[in-house]
Amino acid sequence: MINSKITLSVIKADVGGFVGHGSVHPKMLEKAEEMLKEKGKDLLVDCFVTNVGDDINLIMTHKEGINSEKIHTLAWDTFLSCTEVAKSLKMYGAGQDLLSDAFSGNMKGMGPGIAEMEFEERPSEPIVIFMADKTEPGAWNLPLYKIFADPFNTIGLVIDPKMHSGFRFEVFDLIKDKKVTFACPEELYDLLIFLGASNRYVVKSIYTKEGEIAAVSSTQKMNQMAGRYVGKDDPVLIVRCQSGLPAVGEVLEPFANPHLVAGWMRGSHYGPLMPVSQKQALPTRFDGPPRVIAMGFQLANGKLHGPQDLFADVAFDMARQKALKVADYIRQMGPFEPHRLPLDEMEYTTLPGVMEKLKGRFEQC
Ligand code: 13P
Ligand code: 13P
Ligand code: MG
Ligand code: MG
Repeated sequence: MINSKITLSVIKADVGGFVGHGSVHPKMLEKAEEMLKEKGKDLLVDCFVTNVGDDINLIMTHKEGINSEKIHTLAWDTFLSCTEVAKSLKMYGAGQDLLSDAFSGNMKGMGPGIAEMEFEERPSEPIVIFMADKTEPGAWNLPLYKIFADPFNTIGLVIDPKMHSGFRFEVFDLIKDKKVTFACPEELYDLLIFLGASNRYVVKSIYTKEGEIAAVSSTQKMNQMAGRYVGKDDPVLIVRCQSGLPAVGEVLEPFANPHLVAGWMRGSHYGPLMPVSQKQALPTRFDGPPRVIAMGFQLANGKLHGPQDLFADVAFDMARQKALKVADYIRQMGPFEPHRLPLDEMEYTTLPGVMEKLKGRFEQC
């Protein structure tokens, strides 16, 4: 039977930074494009390669459904080839996100981030793909809440009869490996107690009340390695728009006010998520501040028409100015919380070593 549905897969990895953690070398992007075009020619309907900071994003459409071994293998092999290029150029942290040598056909938990959705293409199918660097999947919680549940952001929830009944949020508990779904607006307050703790509870996907997929993020189960949870990485998010779903402008609107997210320098600081054009996604100051880009596509029979670099619009200039002001302010706190993350959430820590060194010097008070 011919599959009438199309699958959109966005798979990303950092396999080497140019310079430091700033960007991706053009030769690596060329390699990624070459791999998808050659190895994916019988598999993909269309593809587009881009980067945000030091992360390579493979945007692919196909008929294989989500979690396809063929698609995940293609992406993995592409990242391996890019790693070879990165190694030959001695790029920083070459192969950083390919956590295992033993890839078995499913990318989940292997390092790269994955957001995939399968759907029946509508008569017109506008899609926004958000890609961020120097932050984690919890960064999407606040904007997703605003887009799909806040009438002050999304007037469609109030005045569009097709959206008036609201949406369902699927939320992952990254520590306990559990998931739960909330119906909104009925369960708004229950939802918010979890979404507000975005280091632990993260939106995986959003559905209409009729069960149509509207948004999916690269949130994945985390792995416990050496007693610590790893696997929260620079995230991507796919959002379908219009005709009963939020309009493109409603989807972009939350980013006009840069919220604070975890990440930035050494993955260990809070900073404002600055919306930028793809060209401006070169995080330099203190390896940041964290960036988000938004690429708009119209799908036509699986073909990706675009991208439109949506945050290139001058309408986001004020958001960038605000983000820079907040960055300037919060940087003054240096190693103090709440700029620096709490001890148990930092990606890097000297605490066990320092504790060990000082263990004989702690006295009862
Ligand atoms: P190095 O210890 O390799 O300098 O890594 C630090 C770093 O780049 C953290 O992002
Ligand atoms: P990435 O996660 O983008 O590689 O950044 C690492 C980092 O520690 C930057 O300071
Ligand atoms: Mg990096
Ligand atoms: Mg990165």
